[in-house]
Amino acid sequence: MEEKLAIAKGIAEKYGQEHILNFYEELSAEKKEELLDEILTMDFKELESLYESTKVKPNFENAKIEALPHITKAELTEEQKQKYTKIGEEIIKQGKLAVVTMAGGQGTRLGHSGPKGTYDLGLESHKSIFEILCDNVKNAREAYGVAIPWYIMTSEENNEETIQFFEKNNYFNYPKEKIQFFKQGTLPMLDTNGKILLNEEGMIKQAPDGHGGVFEAMRKNGIIYKMKEQGIEWIFISGVDNILAKFVDPIFIGVQAEEKRMTASKSVIKAYADEKVGVFCKRDGKPGVIEYTEISDDLAKALDEKGEFLLGDANIVNHQFHISVLEKISTEKLPYHIAFKKANYKDKNGKIIEATEPNAYKFEAFLFDIFSAVPDMLVFRVKREEEFAPVKNKEGKDSPETARQLYKKFYNL
Ligand code: UD1
Repeated sequence: MEEKLAIAKGIAEKYGQEHILNFYEELSAEKKEELLDEILTMDFKELESLYESTKVKPNFENAKIEALPHITKAELTEEQKQKYTKIGEEIIKQGKLAVVTMAGGQGTRLGHSGPKGTYDLGLESHKSIFEILCDNVKNAREAYGVAIPWYIMTSEENNEETIQFFEKNNYFNYPKEKIQFFKQGTLPMLDTNGKILLNEEGMIKQAPDGHGGVFEAMRKNGIIYKMKEQGIEWIFISGVDNILAKFVDPIFIGVQAEEKRMTASKSVIKAYADEKVGVFCKRDGKPGVIEYTEISDDLAKALDEKGEFLLGDANIVNHQFHISVLEKISTEKLPYHIAFKKANYKDKNGKIIEATEPNAYKFEAFLFDIFSAVPDMLVFRVKREEEFAPVKNKEGKDSPETARQLYKKFYNL
């Protein structure tokens, strides 16, 4: 242990992060070991370059940005709809679909202390978000006679609580063996001087590294391999916070399979210029999404010749991949985006500082950055009122109140 400590000290000093061992002596033996392991395996060089990247603003000025063509569901003919639906239903019945929910994020904006999926939306049924999402696979089981495997990505922070919640609720009466949890990766948070923050315990303050880590996490947890073994061909991946998400959508699968587009995403028309949604685009000829935190005002407002938003296809975090694509991209390294957040921490005197203003950098990889590597990607535009009821903020826009209304309207409750 002494030797390990000396090596860890040496590394931390080399990168100007010696303070991360400030509270080492106060930790339990187990935590001491954990901290040393973290230091020995951490990529300090990467952290340094991530900190450097905080000084540069994302810049799309030099990139050629264009609209990405889409297929609009409502514009399909009856004949096409029937054809695609039939193809999709066959795929589902043959057990070739799996679904993934990314639930590793911290629901801080919602003001809910537990995992976001455990939030009771205040419906008469008092269903939690997870239970509402589970209805997707339960209804599909009734309709198609297949229990679709459901994979749930959690984070270090919420994994245990999420599993306990499912246990307590008896997996919402869905076969337990069809639900599998896996953890996403983390990265340390940095202060504005590039120093690693410590949490209340005096350990490194880690944060989920963004949903772009989903592919790597699936590979590392043997999930892609397992899916292949089970004959899964299509994988639907979505966020945890859209209570109208359609996990099992035959027409979406059918259109993709028939048009041989191995990667697809659903979109809805962006409602207003500064709506907090990413928008699909072509960047230097390649498909991508520009996130609302990174788009310029001009680009967010830009109109096309029909007077509609030039980049009007909003990302609703509903993506679907053929397994061959997942296999290929799961070894790709995605870039990190920077978020400036409020983070409580322990200062060098051991005092816990409660942040009232953003004070820390968090680094996140975005799943959609992979789209530049899949030139044939399809954007499938659907109706907002049928598929998009986000739960993001405590009050106002995209809140439990607005989501509840949309949900009730859709289900005629
Ligand atoms: C997200 C999208 C945005 C889209 C909007 C629609 C991203 C980066 N942004 O914005 O383009 O228009 O939703 O509502 O996708 N998550 C994890 N682990 C993480 C981070 C996030 O599992 O480390 C999950 C969250 O639990 C959530 C989803 O990914 O389900 C979206 O992430 P969030 O950071 O909340 O994105 P938004 O800002 O809401």
